[in-house]
Amino acid sequence: MKTIGILTSGGDAPGMNAAIRAVVRTGLFNKLKILGIKNGYKGLIDGDIVEMGISSVADIIQRGGTVLGTARSNDFQTEEGLQRALNVIDVYKIDGIIVLGGDGTMRGAGKLAKNGIPTIAIPCTIDNDLGYTDFTIGFWTAVETVVDAIGKLRDTSSSHSRANVIEVMGRNCGDLALYSALAGGAESIIAPEQPTDIDEVCKKAMQGRLRGKRHNLIVLAEGVGNAYEIADEIIDRTGIDTRVTVLGHIQRGGTPSSIDRIMGSEMGRIAVESLIAGNTNLAVGIKDNKMIQLEIDEALNVKAEFNYDLYDTVNILSI
Ligand code: F6P
Repeated sequence: MKTIGILTSGGDAPGMNAAIRAVVRTGLFNKLKILGIKNGYKGLIDGDIVEMGISSVADIIQRGGTVLGTARSNDFQTEEGLQRALNVIDVYKIDGIIVLGGDGTMRGAGKLAKNGIPTIAIPCTIDNDLGYTDFTIGFWTAVETVVDAIGKLRDTSSSHSRANVIEVMGRNCGDLALYSALAGGAESIIAPEQPTDIDEVCKKAMQGRLRGKRHNLIVLAEGVGNAYEIADEIIDRTGIDTRVTVLGHIQRGGTPSSIDRIMGSEMGRIAVESLIAGNTNLAVGIKDNKMIQLEIDEALNVKAEFNYDLYDTVNILSI
């Protein structure tokens, strides 16, 4: 193993830069040449590649986003795109690749591995929707961002005696909604795994009102109904003035939390060492506080489990 390529693909996630830094520094520590592939698989197809020296990753551990750039590449899904990428890998004499991203990125990594390119994947997504790992890089920072927003919305909700529906990201996974609702002290959570009845949400709002509670915060995971329709329904049924906030891409940015930096640093180092050890087709993860590596296909087949205990806690504590 002489040359390693690294790319970030799919939605960016805070902590990706910490992982990039760890890959570059661990690689250089082991006398490897490190090539940064720009804009995910698109850059691999286009040959948009730069050599990364020790200073190229200085001052980035604290930065959100990804210094390599990212993209969602449709071309890489095609046979022609894959062949062009394999050709670029050959031309640049890349002996192994480390990819950072979510499930789509990992499927791409699996494809490279099946085509004979030693490849290791690092889980980075704010969605926390990869079941094989307890947590993905970026998730905890996004939780902090949402909790911060919930706190601000609580102020105005209380001042105006309103209900506030807060829509958060997560694609098909309710974890971001769940953990943020619990930490933010929200009254209700509506997640894809447990699409709470609107009757329950209204009941909670009315109960709170009757005992003098002025705010009412409802955390809604994206894709589970329409936030504006839910707000109208609450107004119709309870008479409580209700506003909607869709947090959107703000949840993907910001300075990464310590835990995301630590996971990024550790996973980056492990990925490089794994390639050096001759491994391929593995996804790095964290399970019960220990770093693990699983075959990519196997990892992608593990269904993400919703934490129903936490869900119950949100509801019990918000009586
Ligand atoms: O996968 C991360 C994520 O932020 C999801 O939560 C969201 O559904 C999606 O990406 C948004 O994608 P885009 O950045 O392409 O709008």
